[in-house]
Amino acid sequence: MPLPFRRFTGVVLMSFLALLSPAHAEVRQTSVWWLPRNVNMFGHEIDFIFYLILWLTGVTAVAVFSVMIYFLVKYRARPGVPAIHSHGNNTLEVIWTTIPVFIFLALAIYGNEQWTQMRLRTPPADALPVAVVGEQFGWNVRYPGPDGKLAKMVASKVGKDNPFGVDPADPDGMDDFTTYNDIVFPLNRPVRLYLGSKDVIHAFYVPEFRLYQDMVPGRVYDFVWLKAEATGNFQLACNQLCGQGHYKMFGKLAVVEESAYQDWAKSKATAPTASVDKSNPVPVSLVKK
Ligand code: CUA
Repeated sequence: MPLPFRRFTGVVLMSFLALLSPAHAEVRQTSVWWLPRNVNMFGHEIDFIFYLILWLTGVTAVAVFSVMIYFLVKYRARPGVPAIHSHGNNTLEVIWTTIPVFIFLALAIYGNEQWTQMRLRTPPADALPVAVVGEQFGWNVRYPGPDGKLAKMVASKVGKDNPFGVDPADPDGMDDFTTYNDIVFPLNRPVRLYLGSKDVIHAFYVPEFRLYQDMVPGRVYDFVWLKAEATGNFQLACNQLCGQGHYKMFGKLAVVEESAYQDWAKSKATAPTASVDKSNPVPVSLVKK
């Protein structure tokens, strides 16, 4: 290959990778073709039921196709061999209907119980409250200050300059601090999410947490919680096609030791404007002085 051409393809390839790289920060390096590792307390049960269903359907599929292929060959049309006229077998029908009924019932009862634990049980009282509000195309994040309390969020108050829908005079919110596309969760501590949207439907999705929740404008979802069991860097990716910039709507998400979280929170809370992204200003009244 002549050198100028090789250089040209090199430049094209580099530019292409450079374009891709910001959208792929914290991209998964391991287990690319299979489930990413699970780091959430609820993930074990989700993975268990996933593998259970995979095995049940996998074994059934192999069994059904094996019998089908065997019968296709064994009972193929041959000259001189008369066809068999079968009207079925009632005992077999009852057996292969009853067994799946019990399997489906067991899966439904187990799945329902896990869903109740994840979404319907009240999050633990000591959970760290974190508000995440999606917008075209990024994540507004709000943390409680030293009082441990977030300002009350009201969906109807969410607006262009008030992504969290809070009352600026709410005493609980005076020491809150905000970040943009930057989330840090403490290790082994429940986190209660308050999810909302400023404009269209977005979705909070972190595969390593086995957690997915749509964020519909006009609502605040306060029942989603998690507990991270391992440290690491992850990606919060929006998982609803929300417009032309959907592909770049991702945030950095790190799980760190509790002490590191406290240090991070302190640094954010004491830097009044440093934590606020210029492209998404939060009213000065909402930023900790
Ligand atoms: Cu927000 Cu896609």
